[in-house]
Amino acid sequence: MSEQPAQQAAKPFLYVVVCAAGIARDVGRLIAAAQERGWEVGVVATPQGLGFIDAAAVEAQTGYPIRSAWRVPGEPRPLPDPDAIAVVPATFNTVNKWAAGISDTLALGILCESYGFGIPTAVLPYVNSAQAAHPAYAESLLRLREMGILVGSYEPHPAKAVGGAEQFRWEEALELLDPLR
Ligand SMILES: Cc1cc2nc3c(=O)[nH]c(=O)nc-3n(C[C@H](O)[C@H](O)[C@H](O)COP(=O)(O)O)c2cc1C
Repeated sequence: MSEQPAQQAAKPFLYVVVCAAGIARDVGRLIAAAQERGWEVGVVATPQGLGFIDAAAVEAQTGYPIRSAWRVPGEPRPLPDPDAIAVVPATFNTVNKWAAGISDTLALGILCESYGFGIPTAVLPYVNSAQAAHPAYAESLLRLREMGILVGSYEPHPAKAVGGAEQFRWEEALELLDPLR
């Protein structure tokens, strides 16, 4: 997070980090809810997550380009600095890598560094019970909580079943972040 920032927005700026979970296609719901609450929103998608969203629709909704890959050195940054970050939906993969300090996607690079900057961050994982059974997952959530990351309440849905999209409360990320604004 260095070099020239894009012009800082007048409103508080929220990064929505989108991972490659099936429900990511509905991320427009979170963007709309955040905008209603007074956030300006920019989306950072993992490279895999990019394939799960309608990029043109998201860019039209936010007014900013989606970030997914690192810039070429010297290229201006397309998004203002974040005042807060919502990682929604968060995959098993990204939760574990983030907690371990792995930074092999732009999204993870931003998340790993934002801890050092003290940027308020909420995460809503969307995983199934077989993924959640892996011992690394509980350890990762524990570490994220110890880092001050606000973790959503969605319980893993049964494996090999239709996911729990109806129970997934996108706006919980905003409710978690609100007291920190
Ligand atoms: C159709 C489809 C749906 C998926 N849904 C999920 C999911 O809900 N949760 C999850 O943790 N992984 C899910 N995955 C697996 C992730 O996409 C995969 O682990 C990917 O490497 C995650 O990349 P990311 O964390 O960089 O976004 C799904 C994969 C596919 C093909």
